[in-house]
Amino acid sequence: MSGIPELFEARAPAGETLTDGDNASWLQCWHDRQTGFHQAAINPLLTRFWPELGLDVASRIFVPLCGKSLDMLWLAQQGHEVIGVELSPIAVRAFFKENRLRPTRRPAGLLTLWQAGRISILCGDYFALTSSELGQIDAVYDRAALTAFPEDVRLLYVAHLKLILPTSGKVFILTTEMPDSGALPAQTLEADPELMTLYGAAFNIELLHVEHAFEPHPEGSHLPPEALAHKVYRLSLKSGESCLATGN
Ligand SMILES: C[S@@+](CC[C@H](N)C(=O)[O-])C[C@H]1O[C@@H](n2cnc3c(N)ncnc32)[C@H](O)[C@@H]1O
Repeated sequence: MSGIPELFEARAPAGETLTDGDNASWLQCWHDRQTGFHQAAINPLLTRFWPELGLDVASRIFVPLCGKSLDMLWLAQQGHEVIGVELSPIAVRAFFKENRLRPTRRPAGLLTLWQAGRISILCGDYFALTSSELGQIDAVYDRAALTAFPEDVRLLYVAHLKLILPTSGKVFILTTEMPDSGALPAQTLEADPELMTLYGAAFNIELLHVEHAFEPHPEGSHLPPEALAHKVYRLSLKSGESCLATGN
């Protein structure tokens, strides 16, 4: 993976791994229950657009940075095998407890595999995950995963994804974008340029849906509501590409 190790080294101070600082912040969020990103219901854009991937019922779905997302339950209810990866043991424990599931636990490389029925979660650092723990994957479901990393780590996130996916061709991404205040209405209907740059070399990218919403301003009700654009993307590997090959 020429170029990528250098990027990893450039970001990590001596003696630290790539995302030590970011990891500590996320672990603290879960510890302090600062989990405003968690959705109390299954995402309606997932249930509406997931069938457009045209997957077999028995497909195996990877959910990077899964938190305690209820979307994993819905994916498993469709008959899929679900495997998430999540840094925080608090989140993983909460997912199984709150959904009354009794997981088994065992070591898996540098991570710990929690498993109940069709749902498995590898607890540990995404960047420590290898293709041997992950196994065969048919599609990836990303809600707020790529954007959980700072901008300079996103390239590394996508490079690592390509490295650990065996030959899988499909990625389903839900994003929430904040259009620039000066953006023209047409621009808010286009695919995000950063996503195009990160995935465009190896994947065909289709923007399936855009939905505008106004949500309360995070800094207080005295400020006007924020305009948001919820977007649904379907990515498929370009023909002749394999994830392992494009990770180089
Ligand atoms: C924005 S939240 C999204 C969670 C989930 N996808 C959802 O829709 O609720 C990002 C999650 O990624 C986890 N995370 C952050 N960095 C990680 C890493 N390096 N490896 C694994 N999980 C990580 C955080 O603990 C957090 O639960």
